[in-house]
Amino acid sequence: MIIDVAAAMAVIQAGGVVAIPTETVYGLAASASSEAGVAKIFALKSRPQTNPLIVHVSDAVTCFDACEHLPPHLEQLVRTFWPGPLTVVVPVVAEAFSPLIRANLPTCAFRCPNHALTQELIAAVGPLVAPSANISGKPSATHHDHIAHDFGPHFPVLGGGKTAQGVESTILIYSKDRWYLGRHGALPVAAIEAVLGYTLEMKQSDVPLCPGQLFRHYAPNAHLCLTKAPKGDCIVGFTDRVYPPSSRLFFLGDSTKPHEVAKNIYHCLRQLDKENIREAEVDINVPTDGLWSTILERLNRASSR
Ligand code: TXA
Ligand code: MG
Repeated sequence: MIIDVAAAMAVIQAGGVVAIPTETVYGLAASASSEAGVAKIFALKSRPQTNPLIVHVSDAVTCFDACEHLPPHLEQLVRTFWPGPLTVVVPVVAEAFSPLIRANLPTCAFRCPNHALTQELIAAVGPLVAPSANISGKPSATHHDHIAHDFGPHFPVLGGGKTAQGVESTILIYSKDRWYLGRHGALPVAAIEAVLGYTLEMKQSDVPLCPGQLFRHYAPNAHLCLTKAPKGDCIVGFTDRVYPPSSRLFFLGDSTKPHEVAKNIYHCLRQLDKENIREAEVDINVPTDGLWSTILERLNRASSR
């Protein structure tokens, strides 16, 4: 059910949960200062409490004020990329945000989403915690129809429509004098490295392994087989390519347009479930740089058993 900012404010202020649009994917949002609201998010998603949430802010000061000390490059990073699809995980002071949000970690994740309605909501009610608005382990939601599918037609959704980027934010983790890549995302790594002046290494998060972080994630029910030469009965592929005429086709978009593919990826994976597909071959004959690395990572995890 689509609602406006005033209605979303009322739900959030009453300790409730609303689906919010961001430029990446929809989030399931509650006030960062409502323990009841935060607890509802974990329950709705069947998310283990060992998996911490991102705090969504409308300005960098909220993040800076929570930091135990300001990590080098943090100011340049947020000045360059916020609002936008970058999440930073930083060491915070003990009293910053509740242990439930941070899964008792000494760090907290922050992001400033680039979406006018969500910015307006945060400016009015304060920071919001928001994981992606999907059942843990399943494809994320990039359209309000996906929220209705996962949480029912009456679940409140701010704004509605299709999200602009289609894949989650890129996560950077600060640890021992350096930034590490925590998750590939909508913001390409090269753009971040240009600000940092060094190459980013991947860091496995300090978060204990839990279902949401097991390798299989973003996954439809169908078994996906990644291949550079698909020829099966059911193919997930590209609009500008030719496949066997007898194959049933699901399209990710144009193979020369990674932004278009990122925007469509979760909808396409969800479409397989809608049509009760059991098995599909996915065309991965694509470049591996830039946004393609995020797309390939999502497909890899979605195809893992
Ligand atoms: O684009 C996005 O980031 C979306 C939109 C809604 O903002 N949000 C999102 O949230 O993808 P979620 O909860 O699905 O993924 C956040 C990831 C999780 O893997 C979580 O473990 C990690 O961020 N995370 C959160 N806090 C952390 C912390 N303190 N240390 C390490 N990892 C953390
Ligand atoms: Mg998620």
